[in-house]
Amino acid sequence: MEPIRWKGDRLELLDQRLLPGKKQYVVCRTAAQVAKAIEDMVVRGAPAIGCAAAFGVVLGQGAPKAYAALAKSRPTAVNLFWALERMKKAASAGSALEAEALAIYQEDLAANRALGEHGAALVPERARVMTHCNTGALATAGHGTALGVVRSAKGKKVSVIACETRPYLQGARLTAWECVQEGIPCTLITDNMAGHLMSRGDVDLVIVGADRIAANGDVANKIGTYALAVMAKRHAIPFYVAAPISTFDLEIPDGSHIPIEERPASEVLGYRKLRWAPRGVQVRNPAFDVTPAELVTGIICEKGVVLHPDRESIRKLVAH
Ligand code: MRU
Repeated sequence: MEPIRWKGDRLELLDQRLLPGKKQYVVCRTAAQVAKAIEDMVVRGAPAIGCAAAFGVVLGQGAPKAYAALAKSRPTAVNLFWALERMKKAASAGSALEAEALAIYQEDLAANRALGEHGAALVPERARVMTHCNTGALATAGHGTALGVVRSAKGKKVSVIACETRPYLQGARLTAWECVQEGIPCTLITDNMAGHLMSRGDVDLVIVGADRIAANGDVANKIGTYALAVMAKRHAIPFYVAAPISTFDLEIPDGSHIPIEERPASEVLGYRKLRWAPRGVQVRNPAFDVTPAELVTGIICEKGVVLHPDRESIRKLVAH
């Protein structure tokens, strides 16, 4: 699976809106086209957005309007802004933009493999791992974060419980697809079944990804993550967050300052051409929520695992 293909003069993005039904690439030749592809969720997942944005800067030849268009595409995943900042620094140092974008891509792949190994050590034999959204190869340069941990722990005969992830169905469409392709046993549930399964003892641990981790360890991730963390605490189920260092934002003191994207009402009113809600109803569609650090058992990143994260341990981890 190659969700992001750099071809020298163009970026090819596997259109995640059509999966699992259809495998089709969207071709981007300009920074504006990459920005639009990010906004429209052709490519999604925090690290993948960062990689795509870096190649967008290359296509836009580092022009200020290229940075501006890409920075406006989606607000929550800090990997996007982290990648743009890295590209700016490389440009001011006189380094080649293409080499920097390729480095960002390769480093993300390496970070995921490393965090996968660290995380796998925490996963018991035959564990039933609940996860949310899609954090696999599709959401990154490859391997994945939370799903990367599962991939790395495959030899332990683990299985996945994938929450479908309303309203955009990244769990049902993308995580389930990746697991089926890879031969990882996967059970799909609707989001509102998670508490029931936990209360019956059917979940051994929860592992999710992150879009931005604040300086105090609060975690912004796909809407529904907070509810899973609260329920995991209630049932004494370990709740881990897997994310590379590019997802940490030490300039944000705590989760209340993380910008939360609100997406179009149409995603809640129905799905694709089907509409089930009445005209005239009001809609909220926050795409992310914030899980307070106190509910997080540990954060897994390429440098290792921080148990019970707080301001001090996060600062040490990132500085290390
Ligand atoms: O709206 P999306 O699909 O871009 O949201 C993705 C998530 O919330 C993921 O859990 C997160 O980016 C981590 S991906 C490795």
